Amino acid sequence: MTETAAVPADDLMEKVVRLCRTRGFIFPSAEIYGGFRSTYDYGPLGVNMLRNVKNAWWRAMVQQRVDVVGLDAAILGPPAVWEASGHLATFTDPLVDCKNCHERWRADKIEGVCPNCGSRDLTEARAFNLMFKTHAGPVEDEGHVAYLRPETAQGMFTNFANVLGTTRKKPPFGIAQVGKSFRNEITPQNFVFRTREFEQMEMEYFVPPDEAPKWFDYWLAERMQWYLDLGMPAEKLRLRHHEPSELSHYSRGTADVEFEFPWGWDELEGIANRGDYDLSAHAAASGVAQDYFDPQTNERYTPYVIEPAAGATRTMMAFLLAAYTEDEVGGEARTVLRLHWRLAPYQVAVLPLSKKDTLEPVARQVLASLQPHFMCDYDVTQSIGRRYRRQDEVGTPWCVTVDFDSLEDDAVTVRDRDTTEQVRVPIADLVSELRRRTGEG
Ligand code: GAP
Repeated sequence: MTETAAVPADDLMEKVVRLCRTRGFIFPSAEIYGGFRSTYDYGPLGVNMLRNVKNAWWRAMVQQRVDVVGLDAAILGPPAVWEASGHLATFTDPLVDCKNCHERWRADKIEGVCPNCGSRDLTEARAFNLMFKTHAGPVEDEGHVAYLRPETAQGMFTNFANVLGTTRKKPPFGIAQVGKSFRNEITPQNFVFRTREFEQMEMEYFVPPDEAPKWFDYWLAERMQWYLDLGMPAEKLRLRHHEPSELSHYSRGTADVEFEFPWGWDELEGIANRGDYDLSAHAAASGVAQDYFDPQTNERYTPYVIEPAAGATRTMMAFLLAAYTEDEVGGEARTVLRLHWRLAPYQVAVLPLSKKDTLEPVARQVLASLQPHFMCDYDVTQSIGRRYRRQDEVGTPWCVTVDFDSLEDDAVTVRDRDTTEQVRVPIADLVSELRRRTGEG
């Protein structure tokens, strides 16, 4: 039997960061050179999990719908896009310098006191644009300026007419994109919660203007359900509607899906009614119409946009925090990541009981039969108990043990991560038994 004890919030962050480092989820970037300011690399386990988060989003938002299509737009863009979108003028944070220790802070996050030295002697706040600026080509002059996108959204707006003209979609329909975005955050913090380079999962849902409120409510409910379906505990999630003063320059209404992080409730995803702000702005700036002609009503209109905008890297961190538990099995302490099977870096670990030549060939055959269906680990080192603990710690839902009886009965032991229950399963039935356990068999 297992007994779970809650991990205090203060310790949780430290424990998850340490687990990420030691088990190969997330490494500080350029570590051999002393690291590079709040930049992270996703290791062998982290890359699997991050990919699983993005795939789960794509599955729910694109694969399982007929009204949403995908896109993968460029990261580098010309100033014209960001001029039209309003980001050049308004995508800023208020920056203050501490006159005492010369640290720089976001004025809206520090309540007039320098968090480094406690001084109240701060400069006036000035607008600091968060976009990364670079030059495309060998000439570093104003004519060659380019920006790294600070959101994936604009690629969906600038391709609205392309998608409309090539897919036979009509409002209400959406364009979805997953990819990197870059913001020169003044104070990146809290591990991968706020970084300068991160991944977003965004969808722009184009609707007739009078249907916008209905679709806004629809997407709030859909997006909350997505987290719940992936095992996020309901008490760790809430929806918070923005005050008018908080709204982004493009928004007519925003609500955040918030997660209870160790430091308190904070944003996981923003769902906004962007109105016709972006399409109208791009139509005006480019001179290319960005509207829809409805042949049924003979009306031409600029669709409104409902945008669920989530962070992939931030969401992965929230799932890790929610899944981290410590319990006791048979008097022995263990760490368990209770991740949904869809998100776990490995779904199955194949473990031959001993390294003896007789067991390895069977174990490798079992592994080969599972690999087309599941992401699998294969581990032959140390005692079976130690190997179970290692798999529990990285969230592997099922361990498959090949032992000496397997040579006689063509069966293996399947062990469940959460209950630690073990059952004997014929090798011939293994794939269907594991599929049944995913709930998709
Ligand atoms: N297109 C709308 C948009 O970008 P946002 O609220 O600025 O909206 C959406 O970003 C999501 O992207 C956030 O809810 C968060 O999950 C993620 N995100 C934003 N900035 C981030 C950062 N610096 N580091 C990690 N994730 C970030």
